Parts: sequence; structure tokens; C-alpha cells
Amino acid sequence: MHVLVSGGAGYIGSHTVLALIRAGHSVVVVDDFSNSKAAVVGRLEALAGQQIPVQAFDLTDRDKTDRLFDTEHVDAVIHFAGFKAVGESVAKPLTYYTNNLDTTFSLLRAMERHGTPKLVFSSSATVYGPRSVLPYREDGEEPIEAVNPYGRSKVMLEHVLTDVAAAAPALKVALLRYFNPVGAHPSGMIGEDPGGIPNNLVPYIAQVAVGRREKLSVFGGDYDTPDGTCLRDYIHVEDLAEGHVAALEYLTTATEPARAFNLGTGHGTSVLEMVHAFERAAGRPIPYEIVDRRPGDLPVSYADVSRAAAELGWRATRSVDDMCVDAWRWQSQNPEGYPDA
Ligand code: NAD
Ligand code: WQD
Repeated sequence: MHVLVSGGAGYIGSHTVLALIRAGHSVVVVDDFSNSKAAVVGRLEALAGQQIPVQAFDLTDRDKTDRLFDTEHVDAVIHFAGFKAVGESVAKPLTYYTNNLDTTFSLLRAMERHGTPKLVFSSSATVYGPRSVLPYREDGEEPIEAVNPYGRSKVMLEHVLTDVAAAAPALKVALLRYFNPVGAHPSGMIGEDPGGIPNNLVPYIAQVAVGRREKLSVFGGDYDTPDGTCLRDYIHVEDLAEGHVAALEYLTTATEPARAFNLGTGHGTSVLEMVHAFERAAGRPIPYEIVDRRPGDLPVSYADVSRAAAELGWRATRSVDDMCVDAWRWQSQNPEGYPDA
């Protein structure tokens, strides 16, 4: 298939580009580099051993999006492009709703006009709200909901995509609910490169390990969990990338217009377990301090992964130790992330 990868220069998109090429697909990346660096493209080309076509524009621009579909025959779209920082979404809700919804509307309109039949969408475990029952199931009793504008943009888009697919007999959509993606490509050449102070746990730990930050703040040590810190379902980004390839193949024979899939491991790992796994990977201590809880954090989050196993034929295979070894290789080889172009 010829796959348009929106946001393909970003963290998950870049790993997925390589997984698609490994599986024999061709790609065109669209990214405006609002949260990524141009240097990733050369790294991807070196790893893939081929040129990667990249179109640098803002996908909220409907005319440009449509023109791309005029010039390329696109068999499927994998839609990663969007903003993802929870705290920033609370401060700038309109920016988040506009970017996350309008990029999707541009793509849907172009797909409709050109008869593109397959869409894989980056949703999130954040659509499981505080009332959802563990382990989170795609067909749980509770309706999907979220507690911040970023998460609500994902809930809205799941509804939009479900409605649009229901009305378009030729369109099939996979809604992939990622749990906590971490790790990097085993080469250490591509990985997660957050700008500013990392919001997420593993990039923060990695920057402490490499000496960019003094110590980790562990948000809460008094949760009702085995060691008092929160449990999350961390998934290796390489497993996640392979999940997208499996979802594309699933869409070839899908009967339901839109279907949600959890992409996780099914296991919860605590903050302190992750700290210790990273210490093993890096061979050095990670200084940390237990501080107040972070508002909005759920104590425990992990997936029921049986639907993805049964219907996508996909399961995560990499361990928490693999995630930390690969995250450390990336961070230690690129202490400041990607160079500026
Ligand atoms: P990322 O920020 O690294 O990648 C997103 C890419 O999209 C960036 O390269 C950015 O430049 C690009 N982009 C943003 N707005 C654009 C626009 N208007 N036009 C063109 N390009 C645009 O993020 P990521 O971690 O790779 O996440 C990818 C997707 O997965 C996002 O939709 C995110 O919400 C979702 N997701 C991420 C996580 C996570 O923890 N990383 C978890 C669940 C879901
Ligand atoms: C994990 C655990 C923190 C940083 C977020 C988004 C979610 C999804 C994935 C996009 C929690 C603790 C963290 C730190 C810490 N993204 N922590 N010190 O909150 O599960 O999910 O990313 O869809 O929508 O909310 O991930 O990595 O921020 O936190 O103690 O400096 O690590 O409290 O228990 P989270 P995270």
C-alpha cells in the first residue's frame, strides 16, 4: 500500500514509517515540523536505505491537503499529526481543538473526494476516564470520556470518525488507543525528543540519567498500589509501530466501519519499577524525590489487549527492560536530542 503518514516526523510516526517500509509498503510523510526536527528525515533515510518523500505543510490547510491527494495515489492514511501535551491543552484549549480537529477534517475531506478507503487514527488510553473499569476494554460499559481538552479532542475525534465511516460504505477506520509509548528504535538513531521540560516519565528519567536534569520528581507515593506509586501500561514504540502495520492489514478485510483497539501490553508497571529498570539499563543511579500527586493522574491504567490479539493478530513482545535499554541508547547517543537542521 502507499500510505500517507501524517505527523510522520514525530516520535511514534517516525518509528511507524520504518515499520511500514520493513513490511513492504511505501510512504509519503506530511509534517509541518511544529513538534519535530528536520534531522529525523536523514536518520530515517539512513535506516531505511531509501529516500523518504516528505511534504512540509500544515494539515489544517485543506487546499494543500487536497492537492497532495491530487498528485499521489494514497491507499491508506495513518493520522498521527496533532498536539499532545495535556498541561498545554488546558492552557490553550482552542489551539488544541483547532489543530487536532482541523487536521482530521482536512484529511477526511480529501479522502472522501479521492475515495481513499482506509484510515488508522492515533487515539489514546486517555479516553478511559476515571469511571472506566480495569483492565480497560474497548467495549466497556462506561462511555468514553476524558478530563482535559487534549483527551476530549481524542474522544470527539473517535465520535467524528465513527459517524463518518458509518455514512461512507467504502471507508474503514481503526481507532488505536495507545497506552504509554516509550523506548526507541534499537539503532539509537531515532527516538523521543521532547522540547523543553519533559512532561512524560521516561523522557524525564532519561534526561536525569544523561545529566541534563538533577533528579526526578515522583508524583505521589501514597497511592493504593503495591509501592504507593502509579501503575501504567508502558509499551515499546517498536511494538506500537508494528501494531499500525497490523491495523492496516486488518482494514483490508474489516467489516465494521470503525473499530477501536487497545495497544498496550496488558501489564501495569509502577513509577519506581520504571526508575529501577532504567537504572539497570543505564548502569547508574537515578536520583529521585517523592513529591505531591500530580492533579488528574489516575492511580492505575492498563489495557485488556485481547481484541488486538484476536482481530489484528498483534501482541506486544518487548519488555520494560527492552524499553529502557533502547530509550537509554537513544538518549546517551543523542544527549540533546536531534540537532537543529
Ligand atoms: P509527536 O508530537 O512527536 O508527533 C506529532 C507530529 O505531528 C509532529 O512531528 C508534529 O510536527 C506534527 N504535526 C502537528 N500538528 C501538525 C499539523 N497541523 N500539520 C502537520 N503536522 C503536524 O507526537 P507522538 O508522540 O508521535 O504522537 C503521535 C500521535 O499519537 C498524536 O496524535 C498523539 O496525540 C497520539 N498519542 C501519543 C501518545 C504518547 O504518549 N506519545 C499516547 C497516545 C496517543
Ligand atoms: C506516567 C506516570 C506520573 C513524570 C500521558 C498522557 C496520556 C498519554 C500518555 C497521549 C504517572 C508519573 C511522570 C514525572 C512522575 N498521551 N510521573 N514524574 O500521565 O500516564 O499519560 O502520556 O495521549 O494522555 O496523560 O504518562 O509519562 O506523564 O506519567 O512521577 O516527571 O509517571 O505521575 O504516574 P500518563 P506520564
